[in-house]
Amino acid sequence: MDTYYIDGKFVDDENALISAKDITVLRGFGVFDFLITYNHRPFFIKEHVARLENSAREIGLTLQHSNEQICDIVVQTIEKNPHHTESNIRIVYTGGVSPDGVTPQGNGILMVMVTPKHELPTWWYTKGAKIITIDIERFIPTSKSTNYLSAVFAQQKAHKTGAVEAIYKDRENRLLEGTTTNLFCFKGNKLITPPDNILPGITRSVVLNLTKDHYEIELRHINADELKEMDEIFITASNKEIVPVIQMDEMAIGNGKPGDKTCSVMEMFKKYTQDYGQGKIT
Ligand SMILES: Cc1ncc(COP(=O)(O)O)c(C=O)c1O
Repeated sequence: MDTYYIDGKFVDDENALISAKDITVLRGFGVFDFLITYNHRPFFIKEHVARLENSAREIGLTLQHSNEQICDIVVQTIEKNPHHTESNIRIVYTGGVSPDGVTPQGNGILMVMVTPKHELPTWWYTKGAKIITIDIERFIPTSKSTNYLSAVFAQQKAHKTGAVEAIYKDRENRLLEGTTTNLFCFKGNKLITPPDNILPGITRSVVLNLTKDHYEIELRHINADELKEMDEIFITASNKEIVPVIQMDEMAIGNGKPGDKTCSVMEMFKKYTQDYGQGKIT
């Protein structure tokens, strides 16, 4: 049994309930963020909570907690779950109950759900994964809103074809990001990732910092027609870390195996998260 925080109380996960009248339930109006722990230490908690606040601002949701209060509640909720080796942490801020079912009243509730970290298949990292592209543009892509209809829809399509992720492609044929991941491509010594119209991933920003002295970083849009020129591709996310991509739709990427440069980024990231967990990075 896990302990969640919900609306001022710590409760067993089964008793973490919200009103059916909440406009997160009725309209998908709310925000969330997701992070994991390394050695029980929440990874970049301040940045995740700042992103939650920004997500809320962008959709017009008023939060009644300061970022410091949310960070404190997250840490307390992790401490209430000492049976986890490592944790997944989902912070949700709902839209709240609204008399007309559509107008936010600034009465949303905060939930912090801490569950055991979910391990992903090892072959994703050793053999590399297949991904697909899908013609979808997210509404307010810089906000992690609880409206993830496009993600659930696109992931079903990906899973049907044996792919682990779907990459959104916009009307200009540009590849933006995955349903829950950011996209990176290596072309020679250049590491390319889209600059905007995406969720600013925390893993993405860590990867950019770690690699800036090793590779030439290009923040620019990637046209789908350019894919054949890319040597290596990988995707990043808090729960997935760095996943090498060996196939995009029907096209093999590189030599069909995780590329050397991607493996070097995976190594850098692994070392960094280990150091972070040991408190070597503040
Ligand atoms: C749309 C989208 N892009 C990118 C990401 C990756 O962000 P992060 O690295 O902060 O997990 C996520 C995370 O779930 C996401 O939902």
